[in-house]
Amino acid sequence: MLECIRKAEEDPSEINNSVLSGFSGAKIISLLKNLAEIIVNNEKTYLEVGVYRGLTLLSVAGSVPAYDVYGIDNFAFFDKEGRNLGIINERMELLNLRNARIINEDFENALENLDQFILEKKAGLYFIDGPHDYRSQIMALLLIKPWLSEDAVIVIDDCNYRHVRQACRDFLMTDPGYKLIFQAYTKAHPDNLKEGDRKQAETGWWNGINVIVRDPDNSYEPFYPPVEKDKSLFTNDHLIHTAMYPGASRKFLRITGILASLSGKIKDKSQKGKYRSLNTYSDGLKYDNYNSSFLSRTD
Ligand SMILES: C[S@@+](CC[C@H](N)C(=O)[O-])C[C@H]1O[C@@H](n2cnc3c(N)ncnc32)[C@H](O)[C@@H]1O
Repeated sequence: MLECIRKAEEDPSEINNSVLSGFSGAKIISLLKNLAEIIVNNEKTYLEVGVYRGLTLLSVAGSVPAYDVYGIDNFAFFDKEGRNLGIINERMELLNLRNARIINEDFENALENLDQFILEKKAGLYFIDGPHDYRSQIMALLLIKPWLSEDAVIVIDDCNYRHVRQACRDFLMTDPGYKLIFQAYTKAHPDNLKEGDRKQAETGWWNGINVIVRDPDNSYEPFYPPVEKDKSLFTNDHLIHTAMYPGASRKFLRITGILASLSGKIKDKSQKGKYRSLNTYSDGLKYDNYNSSFLSRTD
């Protein structure tokens, strides 16, 4: 596993731009391919949540052509014209791939009944890149538990977001049978970066990454992603859920921002983001990349 991470750091994948494009970084794709090559077999499969147009799924499928790999997506985001499933199918044809299976379902429905889709196989490598709200992130971790192989590896994308880091930490805190072994973050979401920095994210860890392994024997020390002490944003979820027009609140976020900056009534600016949207609050995070007990056991 250490070699897979180091190889991804030193020699990230060339993204096949003529056929594949999507939302991921070259180091992530490289890491998934490296891990798939050592993990995937007849009993242990690759499963991802969040396929979009197939960049990560088809990259992995190409690295293990003898085995079926699976991607769950209900095409709820970034697909107003309903074209993404067709694009994935075209790309499979172009790349001559026959082993990628799309599970066209809401991820929670699919994970609740995963044996219907992956049959008797277990998930040996699981990649989470679907909806990024706190609940979806933690449910994607909790619902997969019965279907993981004993030595499964979980890779979580978009860990720059503070609520994604919080979901990973909450999961790790509540189950010592899973350990974080590697983490990497960048200073902002790639869409908020200027050209040079964005290129670096595209050729690197995109929007931050966590790698978690199953650790049933408690071989590794606890190691957690950095999170904020103040939990008031999570507490405030309750206010949205109980508001008169809860569904409308997202439509007014921009107006709320403008009103807040004009009113001068927002005294506490500590929660103010730098950007209009996609704030990750990952700039200046202090952290170690590797779980030191993983490094010392492996080196
Ligand atoms: C960031 S994209 C995934 C990027 C992809 N891994 C790639 O390589 O480009 C997130 C995907 O999650 C999917 N998604 C959002 N909510 C979902 C849900 N409840 N169930 C299944 N998929 C969902 C969206 O349709 C979208 O395609």
